[in-house]
Amino acid sequence: MRVVILGAPGAGKGTHAKYLESRYNLPHVSTGDILRQAVDDQTPLGQMASAYMSKGELVPDTLMLDLIRERLTRPDCRVGFVLDGFPRTIAQAEGLERLMEKTLGGGLDAVVFIRVPHDVIVQRLAGRRACKHCGRLYHTAFVPSVNEGICDSCGGELYQRDDDREEMISARLEVFEKQTAPLIEYYRHRRLLSEVDGVGGLEEVRDRIVGVLGLRA
Ligand code: AP5
Repeated sequence: MRVVILGAPGAGKGTHAKYLESRYNLPHVSTGDILRQAVDDQTPLGQMASAYMSKGELVPDTLMLDLIRERLTRPDCRVGFVLDGFPRTIAQAEGLERLMEKTLGGGLDAVVFIRVPHDVIVQRLAGRRACKHCGRLYHTAFVPSVNEGICDSCGGELYQRDDDREEMISARLEVFEKQTAPLIEYYRHRRLLSEVDGVGGLEEVRDRIVGVLGLRA
């Protein structure tokens, strides 16, 4: 199954994509995670991307399309994948369509849009923490770790992303509304879109996503 999870920053894309990976063995492809790793490793891609990411802006489409082509043509994606954070512009969606038709054989099976109001998003991003070692996601109030600052899974240190600072959150939400929200109509028009209410507990939202994808719980 080839799925795109669409949603504003903090909507829960990463949280639910990780679940789909662990439960259904679908590789979770997060362009944000790939870019953050490239920035940490100071690769040429990371050096180019960091100027955009530090302002909450989108990395140019050409770079993103090269990155996604390289990732989706790896053998693990033959079984399918869950895309989190890509596409983010109409140009990226068109590039993905071309890549899938020409190189991957066939198109997407579904696009799930997780709708969450802005006030909830701000709360979620402000409290988000991630494990430096394994990437597991937490929230200081909604999904706390047992021991503060330490990952329950691997004992790694939890950190707050630079772009989760309050002043960056509104910039990212603005970018979403202007550049990414048009994808909702784009995929609705192609009859691929399912919209899911992203407000509610983790398991509640997860069940809605599993339901619209027609997967066995
Ligand atoms: P990226 O990493 O993709 O960030 P994002 O889209 O802003 O999304 P987030 O990771 O912030 O949120 P999420 O929806 O995954 O929410 P999460 O599950 O963590 O991109 C970062 C940057 O990289 C971009 O700004 C851009 O510069 C660049 N970039 C990336 N892709 C690009 C592309 N394709 N083109 C150009 N540039 C690109 O959940 C958030 C929090 O809420 C967590 O703490 C979680 O525990 C909690 N939570 C989730 N669901 C619930 C719930 N139901 N109840 C309570 N808490 C919940």
